[in-house]
Amino acid sequence: MIKITVKASSAYDILIGKGLLDKCGEIISELTKSKKCAVVTDTTVDGLYGSKILDALKKSGFNAVKFAVPAGEESKSHQQLIGLYNFLSENDITRSDFLIALGGGVVGDLTGYCAATYLRGVDYVQVPTTLLAQVDSSVGGKTAVNIDAGKNLVGCFKQPIAVVADTDTLSTLSDDIFADGMGEVVKYGMIRSSSLFEKLSHGRTKENIGEIIAECVGIKSDVVENDELDTGERMILNFGHTFGHAIEKYMGYGVVPHGKAVAMGMYMISRAAENRSLTQKGVSEKLKACLKANFLPFFSDIDRDSLYSLSIGDKKRTSDKIRVIVCPEIGKSEIVTLSLNEYKNLLELI
Ligand code: NAD
Ligand code: GLY
Repeated sequence: MIKITVKASSAYDILIGKGLLDKCGEIISELTKSKKCAVVTDTTVDGLYGSKILDALKKSGFNAVKFAVPAGEESKSHQQLIGLYNFLSENDITRSDFLIALGGGVVGDLTGYCAATYLRGVDYVQVPTTLLAQVDSSVGGKTAVNIDAGKNLVGCFKQPIAVVADTDTLSTLSDDIFADGMGEVVKYGMIRSSSLFEKLSHGRTKENIGEIIAECVGIKSDVVENDELDTGERMILNFGHTFGHAIEKYMGYGVVPHGKAVAMGMYMISRAAENRSLTQKGVSEKLKACLKANFLPFFSDIDRDSLYSLSIGDKKRTSDKIRVIVCPEIGKSEIVTLSLNEYKNLLELI
């Protein structure tokens, strides 16, 4: 088992390894006096791991209730959130009790936001079961639900009290969902680690996935410790996301999943940045090869007007400027502030 401690405003451990779901009860017992919790999951993950986690919790003396939302991005909604608040209340979950998010980023973001707001805040534990959630969404305390205007537009920061990432759960992911998570993994190589990027360029990541997850989480926790509230350095974690979010919205949520949209966004911004001499020549070709080796797409045929109008709704825009993340070379990243006009011109260079 690998342990990484995130020294955020409240410190917590991220545990990465095989067989951790069975040990969940013991691990959580060390962190809380409460013996009551609610497991929040989705219907697919419930069928696979719902009873396993309940058994593990029961073995350690926890009284756990379970709430399952339909699988998919649509569940990151106010409607599911209200259902969850009511469920917690009906089941007498009090301020000293806690929630467990068992699932991918959808369940993690929804549960985290609920934990931040239910009774003005209760503890929660992240038990991520997708690659994307293990390397990214379960770490760092960003929580959110979607609204019609866009993804993650209502949310807050709420750090979990622990992250328990059982890598055995990845064995039931389809190749497609695994590949989707690789989008965020490649992002970490691009923004911070040329050696990680090199490893990924050969494909065959499943062989040493535990170490790769730990490397990504190490980078993320470093960045979060420096800028927990996302006012500076943390924005580099959004490399590929400005275009990626626009592509997700253009295609309709769930049609292109998050990691694949980020993959396209990373290549497209790198190509434009290369053509504007913000990125070294050759970077976008290497990135394209790496994405292809990991079964990821690299280009979207979204028209430039839609890309512009959908991406200026991004959270990194102020009234007349937008911040974009570029990688001057592989393993390095930088935040570039552009006027909206300069941004429009950049899009012509893709
Ligand atoms: P997801 O939660 O929708 O999971 C993808 C699919 O995999 C679902 O159908 C789910 O039921 C299934 N699944 C989950 N675990 C499984 C398992 N072990 N075996 C088989 N199937 C399994 O999607 P995701 O890709 O995990 O997360 C995407 C979400 O994360 C998006 O909403 C995105 O905005 C968010 N996100 C948040 C952050 C953050 O910092 N909070 C960062 C990145 C992404
Ligand atoms: N996924 C981006 C962040 O956590 O800041």
